[in-house]
Amino acid sequence: MRGVGLGGATVLVAGTGALSYRVYDTAALNPGAGPAFDPWGQWRTMPGPLGAIACAVLAASPHNTQPWAFALGTDRIDVLVDEERGTGAVDPLRREQYVGLGCAVENLVLGADARGLSPRLTWLPDGDDSSRVASVALGAGEPTSGELYDAIGDRHTNRGPYTSRPISPGTLAELGDTSGLDGISVHWVVDPQPKAVLSEMLIDAAEALTRDEQQSRDGFVWFRSSNDDIQRHRDGLVLDGQGLSPLVLGIAKLLPASSRADGDDFWVTQTRTVHTATATAYGVVTTATPDDRRSQLDAGRLLQRIHLAATSRGIALQHMNQITERIDRETTTGAPQTFAPRFAELLPDGRRPLLTFRIGYPVRAARETPRRSAASVTS
Ligand SMILES: Cc1cc2nc3c(=O)[nH]c(=O)nc-3n(C[C@H](O)[C@H](O)[C@H](O)COP(=O)(O)O)c2cc1C
Repeated sequence: MRGVGLGGATVLVAGTGALSYRVYDTAALNPGAGPAFDPWGQWRTMPGPLGAIACAVLAASPHNTQPWAFALGTDRIDVLVDEERGTGAVDPLRREQYVGLGCAVENLVLGADARGLSPRLTWLPDGDDSSRVASVALGAGEPTSGELYDAIGDRHTNRGPYTSRPISPGTLAELGDTSGLDGISVHWVVDPQPKAVLSEMLIDAAEALTRDEQQSRDGFVWFRSSNDDIQRHRDGLVLDGQGLSPLVLGIAKLLPASSRADGDDFWVTQTRTVHTATATAYGVVTTATPDDRRSQLDAGRLLQRIHLAATSRGIALQHMNQITERIDRETTTGAPQTFAPRFAELLPDGRRPLLTFRIGYPVRAARETPRRSAASVTS
C-alpha cells in the first residue's frame, strides 16, 4: 500500500482540486486506451512481414524496454539490438536484453509461419559482437499456426495473486517445449521445501537490489507514471501491469506518482506477500553457458514459448529475475558471491540459472502494457 502512495495523501490531493488532473494524467477512468495500446489490436490482422513484426513487438522484454529494431528486406527480416534500451546496473552483462530479443524472435517466427512466410532463422549471422542478432529468411508456404500463435495477444506478465489450485505434472511437462533449442532446459520447483528456499532467496535478492542505489536508480528510469509519458514513450513499467485489484489500482492512479523509495518498498512487500506467497510453482530456465549470447537468445525463445503455452491453458506467469540480476551485479562489481552458491544448491549439477519465473492459476487477469508500433521500429 505504502509503495503506491496510499495514505494521508488522498485527503490532501482531493482537497486541492489536483484530483481531477490526476484522473486525466493517469487515464484512471480509461486504462489500456490510446495509441500506446493499439498494437494489441493489430497483430492478427496486419498482413505480410510487417504483420510478423507486429507479433514480435508484443513479446516480453526486461522492464518493457523493447530493445529491438527490425530491418525489412525483400526476402528477409533482420533483428537488431538497440543497446540504448538497457537497464544498466540491473542487467550489467546484458543477459536479459538478449533474452528479450529471443522472446521477440519467437513471436516473429510464429507470426511469419501464420502468414505462410516459411521463416528460416539464423542467429548472430555476423558473430556475437554485431548488432544484427538474427536474420529470418522468408519464403512462400502454407500458413501454419497453433495454440502458441493464438495466445500472442493474451500473454501478459501477471504480478497479482494466484489461487491455491495445483498445476499437474503433466501440464508442467507440456509447457516447456525445447525443440530446436540446444542446451536449454527448464527446471520446475514444485515441492514445498525447495520452493520455500527459492522464495526466501527471491525476497533477499529484492531487498539487496533496492539497497543497491545504482540498481534501484537504473530500474526506476523505466517507470512510467503518467498517461502522457506512457503515450509518448510507449514502453516501460506501468501501474496497470502491477496486478493490483481494480479498487487499489484506481486509488493508486489518483495519488501522486510514487517516489523511487516508495516504489522499491512496494516491490519488496509485493514480493513477500503476493509474488512468493502465492506462487504455485517456480520455473528456472537453465543452461551450462549463461554468458553465451546464443544461449541467452535460445532461452528467450523458450521463455516466450512457456508463457504462451501457459496463457493458452489459463495459467498465469510472472518473471522474477532479481536473483540472477544480483549474481551479475556481484560478478561485475567484484563483490563476494552471495547468491550464486545458494542457487546452485537448488539446481542439477552443472546447470546454471538464466531466468526465473513463477506460475499459477490467477485470481484476476493481467492487463495490457504499452508498445511501440511495428512500423515505428522497422526500417
Ligand atoms: C528477460 C526478462 C526479464 C524480466 N524480469 C522481470 C522481473 O524480474 N520481474 C518482473 O516483474 N517482470 C520481469 N519481466 C517482465 C517484463 O517486465 C514484461 O515482459 C514487460 O513489462 C512487458 O509486459 P508484458 O510481459 O505483460 O507484455 C522480465 C521480462 C524479460 C523478458
